[in-house]
Amino acid sequence: ETVEWEAASYDMGGHDTYMHKEISEQPDAVDRVLRGRIDDRFSTVHLGGLNLDAREARGIRRVKILGCGTSYHAGLIGAGLIESLARIPADSEPASEFRYRNPVVDPDTLYIAVSQSGETYDVLAAVQELKRKGARVLGVVNVVGSAIARETDGGVYVHAGPEVCVVSTKCFTNTVVAFALLALHLGRIRDLSVADGKRIIEGLRRLPSQISEVLESEDEIKKLAAEYADAKSMMFIGRVRGYPVALEASLKLKEISYIHAEAYPASELKHGPLALIEPALPTVAIVPDDELLEKNRAALEEIKARSGRILAVAHQEQEKADHTILVPKNEDELDPILMGIPLQLLAYHTALALGRDIDKPRNLAKSVTVE
Ligand code: AGP
Repeated sequence: ETVEWEAASYDMGGHDTYMHKEISEQPDAVDRVLRGRIDDRFSTVHLGGLNLDAREARGIRRVKILGCGTSYHAGLIGAGLIESLARIPADSEPASEFRYRNPVVDPDTLYIAVSQSGETYDVLAAVQELKRKGARVLGVVNVVGSAIARETDGGVYVHAGPEVCVVSTKCFTNTVVAFALLALHLGRIRDLSVADGKRIIEGLRRLPSQISEVLESEDEIKKLAAEYADAKSMMFIGRVRGYPVALEASLKLKEISYIHAEAYPASELKHGPLALIEPALPTVAIVPDDELLEKNRAALEEIKARSGRILAVAHQEQEKADHTILVPKNEDELDPILMGIPLQLLAYHTALALGRDIDKPRNLAKSVTVE
């Protein structure tokens, strides 16, 4: 599998920053990761480079996903997708931690290394250690022919195109979509019904136009960013599928705006972080219309009762929130993809309002090829 990355991709194309360009490219990028892979006849997807036959796929008892930073967060959403669609226990762990704890390497576990650059040293070293112990390791990688793509036994290319900005946006989104494809593929080999396969495929097809719809709220998000840019610190909360979205949004904000941010599962508030809530600490809450809606609303009430300011990202207006950014509803499993996008714009406009160097945040490099 190869893709041509044209020189034009490195042109700013009328945008002031690569980050803005890359956020805006997401409808096309998602279209690319889906292209040629959907099989309507069997309500599944074909992933040419996977190198995993149906018998092997049925034998997987556990999935362990490894990545760093944003790729680790994409892996957390990926693990949730694999658990819910393929019903295989799955989790994601920072590759840098995994390789230092002498992990138990189990022959029935499928290991997946996630990386935009395909060159992150900690991920590569984890792959090499796993291979040395005889594990099967797949890659979910953006850069074709990169070190991690070469070291893995097969995998799924993310096809986000070149990402120049140090902070990852379109690659995060495309990586999560790639995981949705993998989860659908594994699910349909196992127990996912035709009807559910079809439901997910239809949801995937709706993503590019729904992402465009989210991008249309940019002016509104810019105003909100101006309102919250004076915060010294921000809290991000979500539950289950929404929690990795909160983690990623908080990373994005701290990377480019240098505002301190923390992400917590909303359910954990009462176990400690509630002590921080006061008007000076705004909370960004991920509130999808799913089985946890009432639980999430209860968390908003707890925050409001302590005079905390709340910015909700939701499918419907949230009464307890000071502001709600509305996003279109997709299938529950795919909602995290859409909910992350307005928060990329929030981080972007907050950093812009603070005059930060958005494409090259201080102290960071695009790919970390050293330990
Ligand atoms: C993303 O915004 C970060 N700059 C960083 O966390 C990054 O995701 C991480 O270093 C992993 O990079 P990779 O995906 O190229 O392996």
